[in-house]
Amino acid sequence: MPLQSKIVLFFIILLSLITFQWLFFITHEEKILKEEKISRGEVLTRTLAQLSVNPMINYQITRLEGLVDSIKSEEDVLSARIVTRQYLVLADTSRENEGWIFSGQLSDKPDLNFSGDTLVVREPILIMQKMYGMAEVVFSLETMNVKILHSRIIFIVLLLIELMLSAAFAVFLEIQVIRPLGGVAAGVEQMPLDEFEEVFNIPLHSTVEIQKVGEALETMRGKLLENREELVSKAKFATMGKIAFNLAHEIRNPLEAISGAIEILGPDIEKRSGKNDYVTIIKDEIRNLNEYLTGFLEFTRSQPRNREYTGVEHVLEDTLLLLTPLIKKSLITLRKEYDVSGAVCYIDVNQMKRVFLNILINSIEALPTGGEIDIKTSFNPEEETIRVSIRDNGTGICEEDRGNIFEPYFTTKKNGSGIGLALSRKIIEQHDGIIEINSIFGKETEVNIQLPAVTEMEIHA
Ligand SMILES: Nc1ncnc2c1ncn2[C@@H]1O[C@H](COP(=O)(O)OP(=O)(O)OP(=O)(O)O)[C@@H](O)[C@H]1O
Ligand SMILES: [Mg+2]
Repeated sequence: MPLQSKIVLFFIILLSLITFQWLFFITHEEKILKEEKISRGEVLTRTLAQLSVNPMINYQITRLEGLVDSIKSEEDVLSARIVTRQYLVLADTSRENEGWIFSGQLSDKPDLNFSGDTLVVREPILIMQKMYGMAEVVFSLETMNVKILHSRIIFIVLLLIELMLSAAFAVFLEIQVIRPLGGVAAGVEQMPLDEFEEVFNIPLHSTVEIQKVGEALETMRGKLLENREELVSKAKFATMGKIAFNLAHEIRNPLEAISGAIEILGPDIEKRSGKNDYVTIIKDEIRNLNEYLTGFLEFTRSQPRNREYTGVEHVLEDTLLLLTPLIKKSLITLRKEYDVSGAVCYIDVNQMKRVFLNILINSIEALPTGGEIDIKTSFNPEEETIRVSIRDNGTGICEEDRGNIFEPYFTTKKNGSGIGLALSRKIIEQHDGIIEINSIFGKETEVNIQLPAVTEMEIHA
């Protein structure tokens, strides 16, 4: 059953129960009020009957009149009278009735009846178990009826309020829950499984919870998009790996042969043609081609093989040893801040050197007229990771290039191969790490690497 029908059914049941409950209370209240009235009427009439015995025996009309008058002064009493066994009205609150013959029925048993807005209670006057007459009191039911009417009005007003509240709540549910939920469902349904580019619209006027569902779906869409891109790029790498492998075999060997041949024939050609430039161009291009293929091969073959527990600062220091002359020559100030509290990473040292080398060379190349390079390491005990940050205040990366820098063969340099960062990312990810680059064009570039780490104490435990 759809949620809408369930809600309607729920409200119908709820309102029926409320109506039933109110009706029960009103009938119950009416019953109680009537019973109260009857018992009061009986007590008053019985008292009048009992008090009338003596004045009746002695035929004291004035006392009887006093008695009926005192009963009349009681609340809700309309009239009272004393009638003899012979139907003669002895005393009546309406004096003009005295002396007249009573037209009703006399009975030796108490009797009461409701007629219109009045209650008539009759009580026999008994002397030695013998009926001498009758006391009759007429009560007004107006106060009781007003009370019942009030209860009914309150019931109807409350019922109307409850109806309106229920209707308002149903409208609220429809606008803020049911429709947005439908919108969310339709949005998910309409999203093609292979396309996550379209932004997921969170329905208007929805409750906070549904907005959260919408936001979660939007986040999920973003993640799916990222994952898809990652999958595509992984698939691309895998295919590229295979192609590279074949290419290397197919092209590299003839290239070696051409390179050998040009080394031998080069001087001859130069001598005969007198043109040195062409031989140099051939040699340069062969070298470029060779470097290109080597990059390809490295990219496809690299797998962390010789892993060991090492402090990243040792790897960084070894890498810097190679670069110190270049750094000095390039007028670069190098600052280092190592603080890993004895934490180490399980890494392939040679591969990690390649990563740091690529990143540091990029920084050096971004500082053609000198500048600063800051290297920082830190340990995050909660996440159990080591963070390496390499920052330079060089050229920075412009916004449109930022999305491509990890793509294989993307380069902005004349002699760059564009494999450095792609290879570095591959190595870091194979070590279950993360590499990110933040850059402000014209100001600075910061490469952040996070690698899983353990403390030395944990290794020895
Ligand atoms: N520190 C940096 N400052 C400015 N640009 C950078 C920096 N690091 C990387 N880049 C940009 O990212 C691009 C890709 O870098 P990557 O290291 O992958 O290739 P490359 O340096 O061009 O060539 P190579 O393969 O020889 O390293 C660079 O061409 C450059 O535009
Ligand atoms: Mg590079």
